[in-house]
Amino acid sequence: MRKKYLKMIFNTEVKLSKKKYWYENLGFNFFYYYLKIRSFFSKKDSIIHFVYETNTQCTLRCKECHSYMPYFTKEAHYMTNFETFKAEIDKLLKSVDLIVSFRLQGGETLLVKDLAKMVEYVCSKKQILHIQIISNGTIIPSEELIKAMQNPKVLLSLSDYSINKKLTSRLKYDEILQICKDNNIDAKHWLTKAGDSWVNRNYISNENLKDRELAIKNLAACHCFGYPKCLILFKGKLYICAPAVYFASTNPDFYIPEGDVIDVMNTPQKLLTKWVKEFNQKKYFDLCSRCNAAENVNVRTQPGVQLEETQTLVAVESNPAKSI
Ligand SMILES: C[S@@+](CC[C@H](N)C(=O)[O-])C[C@H]1O[C@@H](n2cnc3c(N)ncnc32)[C@H](O)[C@@H]1O
Ligand code: SF4
Ligand code: SF4
Repeated sequence: MRKKYLKMIFNTEVKLSKKKYWYENLGFNFFYYYLKIRSFFSKKDSIIHFVYETNTQCTLRCKECHSYMPYFTKEAHYMTNFETFKAEIDKLLKSVDLIVSFRLQGGETLLVKDLAKMVEYVCSKKQILHIQIISNGTIIPSEELIKAMQNPKVLLSLSDYSINKKLTSRLKYDEILQICKDNNIDAKHWLTKAGDSWVNRNYISNENLKDRELAIKNLAACHCFGYPKCLILFKGKLYICAPAVYFASTNPDFYIPEGDVIDVMNTPQKLLTKWVKEFNQKKYFDLCSRCNAAENVNVRTQPGVQLEETQTLVAVESNPAKSI
């Protein structure tokens, strides 16, 4: 486990959470060694930052959505359900010790029909410490979801698109925050401090290129979901980032090196445990050689700028495979 990534999560998501475990109350260094000792005995690593990508459908069409949601083709669109979610989480948890930060996010996460059941389920798992539900604030939570979110492990995290005045009538932040307050639900609205706080979405080309230096440079520049390294579970596979999910979903020929993706449901438990350990140790991923994250790092843009109604959405193709 890389200490610097754990520290980032500890100083943000763990500190922000209402739920505090005794081993977190004793400070970062204690927490770090506690996780290490646990891993030694369980022979499994913890996942620091985990995203379950629930769905690809959304109520907004943000042009620079780094998950590429508006660009998913009709055939590639996907929404999970409780049974699938449960089977995937159960399988994954057998190969990890703890999951420190567990995010549920789409697309628009509150479009997921089974979301309340899914939240209840992850709350019941001792191995999952902190849970965030990410939403764009266009949907009022259902009664069922309100009940599920009352668990102190859960934080409802509202992104801020109020800078785009065209969206004003659709953004229900105040109403949602009031509901959360009335129901003792932990919620945070991440107010955008600057007009250009988004980075442009990263593009991954489809070639069999491996360049260690470039990969390290790109990963260091990449803050997919705010942190340099995270694992994303989508349709039963673990990916290293949202752009990888998008390109793999819309192009059957998209090549991902073996170490940078794993089929959770079809991999024997021991191999999955080993893959998670290796993921934690890695300083870079081969896939990052083919990305433009370093070029993009200073290309800032306004959050929530929408694709025009008249714009026809087509999948953003990556380059044809060169040598695979
Ligand atoms: C892909 S969205 C999914 C959840 C939900 N639809 C929302 O917008 O909050 C997850 C998070 O990524 C953020 N995000 C999306 N594109 C981004 C970009 N280009 N730069 C920085 N953050 C981005 C969103 O603001 C949101 O907080
Ligand atoms: S960033 Fe925008 S388009 Fe992307 S999932 Fe969130 S609201 Fe939808
Ligand atoms: S390929 Fe690497 S650098 Fe590019 S978005 Fe994915 S994790 Fe980030």
